[in-house]
Amino acid sequence: MISLPLASTLPASPESEPLYRQIYERFLSAIAQGSLQPGDRIPSARALAKELGVARGTVELAYALLHAEGYVQPRGQAGTVITPGLLASAVNTPLPPHRAPSTASDTASTSALLPFQMGIPALDAFPRKIWARLGARQLRATHAVDLGYPPENGLPALRSAIATHLHVARGIHCNPAQVFITSGYRESVNLVIQALLTKGDQVWIEDPCYPPTRELTNHAGLVAAAIPVDAEGMDIAYGLEHAPQATAAIVTPAHQSPLSVTLSLTRRQALLEWAAQQQSWIIEDDYDGEYRYVSRPLPALKSLDKHGRVLYAGTFSKVLFPGIRLAYLVVPDALIPTFEHINKIVGNGIPALTQQLVSAFMAEGLFVRHIQRMRKLYAERRTATATGLAKALGPDISIDPQPGGMHLVLRLGDHTSDTLIAQRMREHGMYAHALSHWSTHDTAHSGLLLGFTNIASQEEAERLGHVIRTLL
Ligand SMILES: Cc1ncc(COP(=O)(O)O)c(C=O)c1O
Repeated sequence: MISLPLASTLPASPESEPLYRQIYERFLSAIAQGSLQPGDRIPSARALAKELGVARGTVELAYALLHAEGYVQPRGQAGTVITPGLLASAVNTPLPPHRAPSTASDTASTSALLPFQMGIPALDAFPRKIWARLGARQLRATHAVDLGYPPENGLPALRSAIATHLHVARGIHCNPAQVFITSGYRESVNLVIQALLTKGDQVWIEDPCYPPTRELTNHAGLVAAAIPVDAEGMDIAYGLEHAPQATAAIVTPAHQSPLSVTLSLTRRQALLEWAAQQQSWIIEDDYDGEYRYVSRPLPALKSLDKHGRVLYAGTFSKVLFPGIRLAYLVVPDALIPTFEHINKIVGNGIPALTQQLVSAFMAEGLFVRHIQRMRKLYAERRTATATGLAKALGPDISIDPQPGGMHLVLRLGDHTSDTLIAQRMREHGMYAHALSHWSTHDTAHSGLLLGFTNIASQEEAERLGHVIRTLL
């Protein structure tokens, strides 16, 4: 009989696997590693139980499982042996130890909301009670037919509600068939890439730019042409000069991400004209266009699209909450069949319940009311945060004047590394993005991107500002 590599004490943690399972798995790994060979005799259940200090029944259970799966064969008086002819390579070795899925995520994770976290709406101000009541009503009203696959392009009720909202709030005239429901911005952009672009195509992206946009285009094998951004938004003349043949442009016209400047009307017109002449596509990322504090929200670029070149990507992440994973893409009328076709191939559909709930929220006027409340709250929180930080940090910093958005751009002195300060802030439990990380040209922009939507008061901002001052 072999000497057992199995006979070390078994862990007694109440969370660990049942003991019989641990014994079974030890046998499997011993076979897989070759320390138990086909034909080797294994100890009797009684002997092993004694050695391991467990009940005999526990070992018998493990042996029964090994036998049932063909790893061992009982030979009566001759004991039990590893099945002759068994191939070590064919052994189904135990699963690696249980590991909880990582919650690490950069821009999106809200598992622990940190001060200055970017892009997260004021979660404390979401009308959760109303939402829960509406949700309960939706659940109660669920019929058997609602349990089937939802249409891959989205529920008609939601597509209609979005088309109506866009008309009123963003100046976009579209019909519901142009609205494709997706699970987020990335899915919307991926749909456009799959439907309209080809590997090697050149695409204008803003510099600095929302990192996922750059990552998505790179991953798709598109060639990014980084177009500088100044006080009027993306420098269209630069694009025309350096990459006139590009197939597409991805822009954030309402509040450029991350500088929050607005694309001027003349540049909007120049961009649209280029796209019409070149037969190129414009992807308008209107992630937070509703949040403008100096005037009424400007109409979307899509509202000026006479030639059907603009694909409009909207999201519910900012106007409701990001955990909902709900967004949409509005395509030009002529492209409806193309997108229906591509969605038939790659579209999974979005949970019907979520869509029904959002449709109801919109239909009852709660959506518009919520946006109006948030616009007012964010304007207040923006002022409070800027004032608090300026008070604490004094003339060492400046804050960009921005017409809207959900974060501040805080400029540091010339010789201060934004990467270093962002890292120190993270070490002190705050959240900060270094602007230089969003730029293609590393030295072009230095500053901190600080979300203000969850900073509740000027006092809180000032307190945090004092901590930042010690890090400069
Ligand atoms: C520039 C920009 N575009 C789009 C989005 C929306 O992404 P999603 O719909 O995946 O939440 C965000 C969210 O932070 C963003 O900052």
